[in-house]
Amino acid sequence: MSQPQHSTPVGHDAEVQGTFDRIAAGYDTMNRLMTLNRHAAWCADVARRATTVQGSDYLDLATGTGVIARSVQARRPGSHVVGADFSEGMLDVARRQDPESPITWEFADAHELPYGDESFDAITHGYLMRNVSDLDKVLGEQYRVLKPGGLVVALESSPPTGPLAPFVRIGMQAVIPTLGKVVAKDPEAYHYLTDSTLGFLPPKQLKDRFERAGFTDVVYTPHFLRTNVIWQARKPR
Ligand SMILES: C[S@@+](CC[C@H](N)C(=O)[O-])C[C@H]1O[C@@H](n2cnc3c(N)ncnc32)[C@H](O)[C@@H]1O
Repeated sequence: MSQPQHSTPVGHDAEVQGTFDRIAAGYDTMNRLMTLNRHAAWCADVARRATTVQGSDYLDLATGTGVIARSVQARRPGSHVVGADFSEGMLDVARRQDPESPITWEFADAHELPYGDESFDAITHGYLMRNVSDLDKVLGEQYRVLKPGGLVVALESSPPTGPLAPFVRIGMQAVIPTLGKVVAKDPEAYHYLTDSTLGFLPPKQLKDRFERAGFTDVVYTPHFLRTNVIWQARKPR
């Protein structure tokens, strides 16, 4: 595996990086509140699916405070788990939560992964895709660093669909920035979170993007009034 190198995000990505650096300290609390404490269970499900691949090299991209990475590590204690993110603020929180953890926490921009081809048996990520400036490049990078037969398993928020969509949309616009203001003291960051979710691709279009990147067996499982979705996609052998 090659050594990680720091690239410097620009434009939209630099703004996203700054937002996560700013909210890192209160991120876990806000996540629990916004998901009514469901986030940990979804992350555990992502880890469970990813570790159905028998292997020893796992990458949790956009690891944030490391919830998915730790869950993968707990399921595969002898394996090499990398938790990578481009926010040093989030990585600092991950490192501080368990200084003895064998997980490798390191900088990586999802657009330009500092890993060789076919390095990982499975890749996980939570809430990465709606944040990136070039989704096709990010999926292409995951395809490149995954071993043939490997899996991507991802948790992502999704614009609400179905008959309840208008109500869910209004609820999100009211509740999330208010929590951001009262709890995190950063309404702007949580307006961004709501807007990036409501403006993101609906599941059918995201499935097309996975397939365009070369993945097969792309399946998705919606949760929480379809606002959170677990994705699974395979790199063919
Ligand atoms: C909403 S947090 C999710 C953290 C964690 N996966 C979870 O489920 O709690 C999104 C994370 O994606 C990271 N991120 C966004 N764009 C990225 C990029 N281009 N490269 C690497 N990390 C990125 C952010 O820094 C942030 O830590």
